[in-house]
Formats: sequence, C-alpha cells, structure tokens
Amino acid sequence: MRRKLIAGNWKMNCLKNEGLALAKAVFDKTNGDLPFDVLICPPMSLLGQIAALPHKIGVGAQDVAVAPKAMGAFTGDVSAEMVKDLGATHTIVGHSERRAMHGETDAVVRAKAERAIDAGLTVVICVGETLAEREAGRALPVVTAQIRGSVPEKATAENCVIAYEPVWAIGTGKVPTTADVAEIHGAVRAELKKVLGTDIADKMRILYGGSVKPSNAKELLSVSDVDGALIGGASLKVEDFWAIAETQF
Ligand code: PGA
Repeated sequence: MRRKLIAGNWKMNCLKNEGLALAKAVFDKTNGDLPFDVLICPPMSLLGQIAALPHKIGVGAQDVAVAPKAMGAFTGDVSAEMVKDLGATHTIVGHSERRAMHGETDAVVRAKAERAIDAGLTVVICVGETLAEREAGRALPVVTAQIRGSVPEKATAENCVIAYEPVWAIGTGKVPTTADVAEIHGAVRAELKKVLGTDIADKMRILYGGSVKPSNAKELLSVSDVDGALIGGASLKVEDFWAIAETQF
C-alpha cells in the first residue's frame, strides 16, 4: 500500500510573519499520528526558520541548484546540500513554472533531482502537459517523455515522488476528468516500470497537482494510481489545506 502524501507548494508567497504563522498552524494540525504523510514547501527565504520549528512532517524547498558542486561560484543559487543543511527533508524540482519561466529542460530537472538525492533529500519531480499539447492529443507522449528525461536512474520509492500537474490546471480552477487523471497516472507508472523496474515503480508515489481544492480533493485522491496531491493556492490557507488532508482520514 502506498501511503498518501499531501504536499503544499507555497510558491513565492508569504513574508516572514505570515509564513511562520501558516507553518505553525499546519504543524499544530499535524501533531498527532496521521494515516498519511504531509509536506510543506515554503519559499527559500523562510525554509530555515520554518524547519527549525518543532514539527513532525516534511519541510521542503521548491527548487535546488543544478550546479555540480555543493558550494562554489554560483551566484544566487542554493545547493541541495544547503537545503538539507537548513533542516529540509524534500525538494520539488521541475515545476512547470520553472520549466516555462526559467527554461528548465528535462536534462536540467534530472540533474537537479540527482543533486537532491545525493544530498539526502526526497525529490518531488513535476511533469505535465500544456493546454496546446493536451488539445493536440499529445498529453500522454509528452508526459511519458518527461518521465524518461527527468527521472534519474538512482531514483527509488524512498527518495523520489512524481507529481503530475497539467500546466493548464495550475491556478486556473480547471481540473482534468478523473478518467484523464487515471489514464496519465497509469501511463506514468508504466513508464516508471520501464525506467526503474516494477518493484520501485509499484511503490513510488505519484501525486496529482493543479487546482486541488477541498471540494474536489476526495474525488481526485480516490482515482487509481493517485497517491496524494501537490497543492498550490489552497495550501496558503490552513483551513483549505487541512480540509483537503482531512478527506484522507
Ligand atoms: P494550484 O498549484 O493548486 O494553485 O493549481 C499547484 C502547483 O502548481 O503545484
């Protein structure tokens, strides 16, 4: 049985007071024993302070440097080792906003995933098709190619999680049908089997992301091969984030 993972991606939101208050509110909710895992990914500016608060859940970064070294002349970058050193357990890589706005290719995403794994982090690798790709009937080949290109050979079910996030569903309030989600998640797992073998692929968690809300979470999270959610907007309000998590009790 794959344990579900409820993950929040705060993106570039929250100044210090707001971010610390949100993190504390999530930590309060997640104090007891839960039947699922929880992860929050605050902005890098707050990661260290939030990770230093008492908590029982995962705290992750939203990105790590692609640089081949843990330290060096890479102005503005923060390495996976530095993220780990702040107390983080996870990092996201390859979010569509980074693929689109920072020109990150599958090769870059894969290299970042390797750095994260080498540093001892669990990496959440994002994939997903654009609206034009979906409308052209190319969602499946696009996503499976991203899996082949972005998932490193050293990925295991413990150090890697996949997040399928259709780009057109992110922050738009639009969500794919449950049949479409099932189709892509099934194809992602089949591709993972080819890349990593059946054992690892069967255990690896595949999250759905893109406009997950309290009102649609139960349905989306009950689709076969959906092992959790990566939540953007709704992770910024503890009531909404927790209402999504609560569907999994
Ligand atoms: P959203 O974002 O929940 O606001 O659509 C999801 C994401 O980008 O990870």
